[in-house]
Amino acid sequence: MKKALIVYYSRTGNTEKMAEYIAEGIRVSGHEAELKKVSEIKTKKDLAGYEAYIFGCPTYHRGMPANFETFLFLAQTANLEGKIGGAFGSYTHSGDAPKMIFDTMEFVFKMKVTELGSFNMLEKMVGTREGMKACHDYGKAIGEKL
Ligand SMILES: Cc1cc2nc3c(=O)[nH]c(=O)nc-3n(C[C@H](O)[C@H](O)[C@H](O)COP(=O)(O)O)c2cc1C
Repeated sequence: MKKALIVYYSRTGNTEKMAEYIAEGIRVSGHEAELKKVSEIKTKKDLAGYEAYIFGCPTYHRGMPANFETFLFLAQTANLEGKIGGAFGSYTHSGDAPKMIFDTMEFVFKMKVTELGSFNMLEKMVGTREGMKACHDYGKAIGEKL
């Protein structure tokens, strides 16, 4: 059994719901999944000891929230090279943030990113059965890579 860490920011709860469903998908595939709000990550030590990292935040103003940008600078110091990576977030019309995070994971952190790419979910889908299943599937795909 391996361990995955999901770090997320969510202002109004949609991305948080996605995080919980993705964690369930990882657990169903037989691995441990820990959830942490981005505000709980204070030092690079808080990122140590996992095989997979899934980072999630919503898109606001065509980008990622400032606290998540700051978090990625901290994550840069945590040596995540070769670790499994995925990124997700809720959105309504442009959905830029998950792709930005995913690119940073792939090209800057040199992580082994999931073939599924980044995972964007329309806000109105998050609370649906179909939305929940899509999140489970993303988690399972990460779990299978572990
Ligand atoms: C002020 C504001 C700006 C937003 N800007 C964008 C945007 O540029 N692109 C987009 O796709 N969604 C945008 N959204 C929609 C949010 O991404 C969406 O509500 C999302 O579900 C919020 O996720 P959360 O509940 O995890 O905070 C914006 C929402 C607000 C309130």
